[in-house]
Amino acid sequence: MNNFIFQNGTKIYFGKDQIDNLPTEVLKYGRRALFVYGGGSIKRIGLYDKVMNLLRSAGIEVSELSGVEPNPRHTTVNKGAIICRDKQIDVVLAVGGGSTIDCSKAIAATALANTDDVWELIEGKVRYEIALPLITVLTVAATGSEMDGGAVISNMEKNAKFALHSPLLLPKVSFENPEYTFSVPAYQTACGSFDIMSHILDVEYFSQSDTMDMLKCIQEDVLKTVIKFAPVAIAKPDDYEARANLMWASTWALNGFLYDGYVQPTVCHWMEHELSAYYDITHGHGLAIVTPRWLKYVLDEKTAPDIQRFGVNCFGVTPSLSPMEGAQKAIDALSDFLFNKLGLKSRLSELGIDDKHFAAMARSACRGGILNGFKPLNQNDVEAIYRMCL
Ligand code: NZQ
Ligand code: ZN
Repeated sequence: MNNFIFQNGTKIYFGKDQIDNLPTEVLKYGRRALFVYGGGSIKRIGLYDKVMNLLRSAGIEVSELSGVEPNPRHTTVNKGAIICRDKQIDVVLAVGGGSTIDCSKAIAATALANTDDVWELIEGKVRYEIALPLITVLTVAATGSEMDGGAVISNMEKNAKFALHSPLLLPKVSFENPEYTFSVPAYQTACGSFDIMSHILDVEYFSQSDTMDMLKCIQEDVLKTVIKFAPVAIAKPDDYEARANLMWASTWALNGFLYDGYVQPTVCHWMEHELSAYYDITHGHGLAIVTPRWLKYVLDEKTAPDIQRFGVNCFGVTPSLSPMEGAQKAIDALSDFLFNKLGLKSRLSELGIDDKHFAAMARSACRGGILNGFKPLNQNDVEAIYRMCL
């Protein structure tokens, strides 16, 4: 058991019509808001008009930054920071998925930092000790960005995708209405759903440290929630119950509540971030391809019991098997869920990815050392796992 600190100050409005509270929350921070969104999905579902009307009716002065990319670029963050300075923005409002929220967090930090370039913050060359307040309206259940202090930003010129992490970046308020996710396509629902699961598996569940049983049990319950409701949401996109469960699971998976303080590299995430930095693929899909291969690679007498437990408690694998057999069945069950039930392509080659950059990606994923996670991995191990994914 480890010591830990738990604190999370994000206020959540969950459910239908909660958005009506948006102006009141914005006005707590000021009258000038930067409204940040992506490529147009919020216009298609009527959310753009709804938010704009609410803000304008309350006398809030709105500036806009649209076109935030999935895998948000540092250049877009820099544009947003300039708007904040020019327009003396008081509060940043992100309406969208993890990419829009992450971009907005990075804007909030860069706007008040002593640089025009967020990449200097990410590389640690410039420190930031304040950030503009951020409010979010979530439209995809996936990243947990709505209630965490992380912001993952891509620099495509450098094939680099790295994160800022700070309590300063925690949203002050997040609005979660499952109805806003009815329009999320099946593919994105599948990717987001596995991202939720991966936040539990990669950050906490599979580790060398013992986790307190209460946390392990809740982690399994959240995993089972996703396993149950992701296929429902794919089959029936406007199933409120399914979308609500996925949305709240997204928030819980990474808001710190399931975390027992043990720090380890998030191996699958670091491997996936290399894939999206080089090939701009969807984060959750990269994780889905990497994770079963990683589990297969790290499977040995020491890791088998935890992998077996995951299979037994989350996928109903027979408990009476030996740990090695049970763990193998667990990996098979996870693969079946991802590639048959959720319908995700299972190989990197199907996404047009070959082994050209594997050595460089493995070097960067290992940050020049050993990834001391569930089982320690060096650069050659990581490259071997990438090859298993081809
Ligand atoms: O850009 P628009 O038009 O909004 O379309 C988006 C985008 O194409 C679309 N979409 C969003 N809401 C929709 C919708 N389509 C229809 N109906 C809706 N309601 O979905 C596509 C993907 O959106 P995106 O925001 O990229 O998805 P997601 O929420 O999965 O975010 C992924 C990003 O978050 C990072 C990932 O690496 C990736 O860059 N992560 C952030 C984390 C964090 N902040 O803690 C942790 C994660 O591990 C992850 O790394
Ligand atoms: Zn993730």
